[in-house]
Amino acid sequence: MDPIWNKIHKGGWGKYPNEALVRFLCRYKKAEPDFKRNNKVLDLGCGAGANTKMMVAEGFKVWAVDGAGEAVRHAKAFVSQKNTKFIVADFVDIASIFPKGFFDIVCDNVSVYTNTVKNIEAILASVAKILKKDGLFYSSCFSTKTLGCGLGKKLESGTFIDIRESVFFKDRGIAHFYTEKEARKVYGKFFTVQSFDVDYHTEFNGQNTVSMFVLICRKK
Ligand SMILES: C[S@@+](CC[C@H](N)C(=O)[O-])C[C@H]1O[C@@H](n2cnc3c(N)ncnc32)[C@H](O)[C@@H]1O
Repeated sequence: MDPIWNKIHKGGWGKYPNEALVRFLCRYKKAEPDFKRNNKVLDLGCGAGANTKMMVAEGFKVWAVDGAGEAVRHAKAFVSQKNTKFIVADFVDIASIFPKGFFDIVCDNVSVYTNTVKNIEAILASVAKILKKDGLFYSSCFSTKTLGCGLGKKLESGTFIDIRESVFFKDRGIAHFYTEKEARKVYGKFFTVQSFDVDYHTEFNGQNTVSMFVLICRKK
């Protein structure tokens, strides 16, 4: 993973959960008849624990993983330790940490996008392994219509580093941006894409365009 994340988390991170993720988990909880048995969630890229805290409050059993030790240090202080286990690890190693078919849900709120395509594919393959049959993978990432795509230094098609023109990506290391066709292809290799949505908004009086893909996938 990009070591810049340890440096970023030294300076702190937001504490409020992502709204689309809250909706997804609350809908799951309402629809799941045996929630007490089927409530194991992996917060993949917990950062400083903003989403982890919400998951615990909603009654999920949470395993929170991040490769940045600084992020996990903040998350541990922010989230109640009850029903939560924190692990510092690179996403590419998760299939060797958790048993096959362990989780009901894996959630990635803009964490996996900050990797190269080779690593993203290795991570998605591992997520598929540790999910239960019919388990769900929630993942949000950035589309090529987001300010930042095509700027900075190109590492490969759709992947850039040292982007300076956007507050989201400035000093935040690697970012991969997807077209819809590519996202459907990459996620579709490992999962059935159940729903594919776009969350588009602008910020700073229209200067920043943020176009996010929100995918809900089911293990094949
Ligand atoms: C943009 S932050 C999002 C944090 C959190 N999901 C949130 O919504 O607040 C991305 C996080 O993913 C972690 N991350 C990215 N790639 C990783 C990898 N390959 N292994 C472990 N952690 C990684 C970073 O350390 C960082 O904390």
